[in-house]
Amino acid sequence: MRDNFEVRRYDGAGRLGKLTVPRSSVTVETPALLPVVNPHVQTISPAQLESQFGAEILITNSYIIYGSDTLREPALADGLHEVLDFSGAIMTDSGSFQLAEYGDIDVTTPEILEFQQQIGSDIGTPVDIPTPPDVSREQAREEWETTLERLGVAESVDTGEMLVTAPVQGSTHPDLRERAAEEAAATGLDLAPVGAVVPLMNEYRFGDLVEVVAATKRGLPANVPVHLFGAGHPMMFALAAALGCDLFDSAAYALYARDDRYLTVRGTEHLGELSYFPCECPVCSEHTPDEVAEMDDDDRHRLLAEHNLAVSFGEIRRIKEAIRRGTLFELVETRVRGHPTLVDGYRALLDCVEQLETTDPVAKESFFYLSADSARRPEVTRHHDRLARLDAPEEVLLTTGQPSDRYEESWRLVVPFGPVPRSLSDVYPLTAETPDRLDRSAYVAAADGIARLVEANPETTFTVVHDGWPESALDVVPDRVAVEGYTPQEEQD
Ligand code: GUN
Ligand code: ZN
Repeated sequence: MRDNFEVRRYDGAGRLGKLTVPRSSVTVETPALLPVVNPHVQTISPAQLESQFGAEILITNSYIIYGSDTLREPALADGLHEVLDFSGAIMTDSGSFQLAEYGDIDVTTPEILEFQQQIGSDIGTPVDIPTPPDVSREQAREEWETTLERLGVAESVDTGEMLVTAPVQGSTHPDLRERAAEEAAATGLDLAPVGAVVPLMNEYRFGDLVEVVAATKRGLPANVPVHLFGAGHPMMFALAAALGCDLFDSAAYALYARDDRYLTVRGTEHLGELSYFPCECPVCSEHTPDEVAEMDDDDRHRLLAEHNLAVSFGEIRRIKEAIRRGTLFELVETRVRGHPTLVDGYRALLDCVEQLETTDPVAKESFFYLSADSARRPEVTRHHDRLARLDAPEEVLLTTGQPSDRYEESWRLVVPFGPVPRSLSDVYPLTAETPDRLDRSAYVAAADGIARLVEANPETTFTVVHDGWPESALDVVPDRVAVEGYTPQEEQD
C-alpha cells in the first residue's frame, strides 16, 4: 500500500484520520461519509451535497457512465468533477456490484480502470468479485483468487495519480477475509474496502458483519484506510467506526427517501407513521410529517433525502467528536440500543477486545459505565492485564471501604476494574463514573481482576472487604483469599 493516510487519534480501533487524495489535491477527514450519487437521477445535487452538507467526497458508478450514451462522452470530454459539479474527491466503483446483482458485466479491470482514470476519478476500483455471505469456503476461495489476480492487473495499469482500491472479499469466512486483507495490503494499491457486506447489513446480521470486518482489520496494517462498501444506515456508523472503518458510502439517504422512509440514528421510521419529526434539521423544524406527506413525489423525496443526509452527516460529526474525546464506546453503547441485532454486533466487537486494546489510548476523558457490556471494554481488560504484572507487597487489603493500617497496604476495590494500587487511583479509567446500582457482570469483572492479581502474587496474603458483592462474583475470588463482607446482595441482573 502507498502512504496516503494518516491516523491522528484512536478510540478503541476507531480512528480520526486524514486521507490525502493527490489527484484533486484535497484531503478528506475520516471517518467520512461518501454519498452515493446516481449519475442519471440525482435526488440531491452534488453541489448541494458539498455546500449544504459539507460532503468532502462522494462515490458514483463508473460502469453506469461507461455504458451510458448520454454520460460517457461528456465525462470523457469534461471530466467527472465538471459533469457532476463537485470540487471534492470523487471515488468511482467499477460495476462489481452490478456483477453481483445481475451475474454478468461486459468490462474488464484494465478497461474500467483506464476509463475511471480518463474521466478524472480520484479513487478508482477494479472489478472484484463480491462473493455473497454463507457460500462454501471453496467457492469463497476460488472467487477471491480471481479478485486477487485482478488486483495484480490493477497494479499494472497506468492510473497516474488516481488512487486505486484493493477490495477485500472472502464471504463469511474470517480466515479468508484476514488472508485477503494481508494480500490486499501487500499490493501497491491504496485503500482496502470490505466487500460484499451489503447482504449482511440488509438482513441486520450485525454480529456476522462485525466478525467479517474484524477479520479484515486483523490482516491490515494501521496505515491502510478502510472503506465499508454499502454501509448506508446511520444507526450502524458508530459501530463500524469503532471497528476501524474510515469511509462509508450511503445510498440509503436517497433509496429510503424514495420509499418514504425516514432515517434516524436508532433505526428507520415510515413517514406515514410519524406524527412529529424527532429531529432538529431544517426540514424537520420547518415542516410536519403531515405536510411532507401531502407534497408531490419529487418534493417529498427531496425533503426526506435532505433529512436523511442531515442525520447521516450529523452522526459522522458525532463520531468524530467522540473519537477525539475518547467517548466512542459510550456512543456505540447508546446506538446499539436501537436494535437487538446491533447489540449482537457490539458483543461481537467486544469479543475482539484484544484487537481493540492494541490501539485504544491509555488516557481518555471519562469512562462511563452504561451496561453489563461496559465490563468487557478494553479499558477493563487492560487493567486486568496490568494487575497480572503488578508486584504486590506481603500483605494487602483490597477494600471497597476504608483503608486499614492492620495491613501493609490497603488498595481500593473499584467495580468493574478490581484492585487499584494507590498510585493508579486518579488515573483513567479508574476515575470511571459508575451507577451505584451495578449489574452482576460488573462485580464479576472486578473479581476477575482480583483473581489476576492473586495469581500473579503467590507469596502475598490478600484480604478482600466488599460492600455486599453477589455470590457469583465472590465465587471468582480465589479460595486462598480471606473474604470479609456484608451479606452478599441479592443476585441481580
Ligand atoms: N458495492 C457494494 N459491495 C461491493 C463490493 O463488494 N465490491 C465493489 N466493487 N462494490 C461494491
Ligand atoms: Zn430532520
